[in-house]
Amino acid sequence: MKAKELKKKYLDFFKSKGHAIIPSAPLIPEHDPSVLFTTAGMHPLVPFLVGQVHPLGNKVASVQKCMRTGDIDEVGDSTHNTFFEMLGNWSFGDYFKEEAIAMSFEFLTRVLKIPLSHLAVTCFIGDEDAPRDETSATKWKQLGISTERIAFLDKEDNWWGPAGSTGPCGPDSEMFYWVGKDKPPKEFDTDDDRWVEIWNDVFMEYNKTQEGKYVPLSQKNVDTGLGVERVTAILQGKDEIYQTELFLPIIRDIERITKKKYEDNTKAMRIIADHMRASVFILGDERGAVPSNVDQGYILRRFIRRAIRHLKSLGVKDINTSIFAEKIIDMYKDEYPLLEEKRNFILDELHKEEERFTKTLEMGLRKFETMTAVSDTISGKDAFLLFQSYGFPIEMTRELAEEKGVSVAESAFAVEFEKHQELSRVGAEKKFKGGLSDASEETTRLHTATHLLNEALKTV
Ligand code: ALA
Repeated sequence: MKAKELKKKYLDFFKSKGHAIIPSAPLIPEHDPSVLFTTAGMHPLVPFLVGQVHPLGNKVASVQKCMRTGDIDEVGDSTHNTFFEMLGNWSFGDYFKEEAIAMSFEFLTRVLKIPLSHLAVTCFIGDEDAPRDETSATKWKQLGISTERIAFLDKEDNWWGPAGSTGPCGPDSEMFYWVGKDKPPKEFDTDDDRWVEIWNDVFMEYNKTQEGKYVPLSQKNVDTGLGVERVTAILQGKDEIYQTELFLPIIRDIERITKKKYEDNTKAMRIIADHMRASVFILGDERGAVPSNVDQGYILRRFIRRAIRHLKSLGVKDINTSIFAEKIIDMYKDEYPLLEEKRNFILDELHKEEERFTKTLEMGLRKFETMTAVSDTISGKDAFLLFQSYGFPIEMTRELAEEKGVSVAESAFAVEFEKHQELSRVGAEKKFKGGLSDASEETTRLHTATHLLNEALKTV
């Protein structure tokens, strides 16, 4: 089954169960300045989980654009990636555990036709904050899951949320699919990685407070999440997401351009494919960012620069990331028409960042070589030089150092970085003073009005 079909089947199924289908919220959160990206389908729905009335009712489902950057450095192995789509269904104080589980089971076994023999589940074992989840386990048994296939685990595994440090959260029940070549064993061994998690039903009935306490919410909610890329790969019997139609066209382009094989350059090609998808979706978001040295812009910059560095390492002379971006836009433009509208903007921004970086990349790499020829530690000052003069994000220096088997004095880098920040702050304050120091009240007002007008013009 292709990813598009999976998404359609999911939304159709939950529509038939009385859910309103809501569009994906932006990848860059609208109401939560504490995080850079939307990390789960529930993220934009937090207000409704804590009691606000949703205009479309108390049962909704969606495909949400998500990004998890906690493991950026791990991208390149067979399991980690950054941008992904999450399928989810929610109950805002409507149905709870039993109905949620029954619907998940029906979707997996009837719609996706996963045989019962290949399923196992986990439930929350209970602790001082919440009781053992017998309700969920009993429901699973009623549906036909045997006792040996139900594992009880603690908070580490069977609790989800809050998305930030406070907010809605609760015990969860996860579903696992047997991907082994042999017959699935009778008993579910949670340490056997041939059991792969495919879906998570979270029972959000608690609110985690600033003090770290779990207090009951005014309503009992359901929040579920199923990763499109991962489940697509599993349903197609593929070992990794990069072998599905969501990544393969990009991998093939990389092979064509580099004249090298994926089999021999797996890690670099996975990084390029993942980071290009992420870059296109950040640039093409409703609240899109452009490359910069702060916040989402910095993550974007790291994605683009790391992709460029790996393209260079694969021998590409004339970097042109647009080729991949065009393909990604084409793949997703029907589902996210904004990508098409912003096509030129996306390509322009990629091109500008390429121009900025390719000029300094080779010189920076040579500098890096001379640094590591004389020492097996990159000092804070040197790491800062690579950052400041050659545009190497510290993470890139760290990655290069790892490949070379040398270390980076990261805390010394942080000190250099702070010093520089302080200098630019003082500089900016001086400049501001220079601009307005002798100004009358009238001039100050006009100055402010100009800022507002500029901002409005930009928005419109
Ligand atoms: N919010 C839950 C998750 O991301 C469903 O796994």
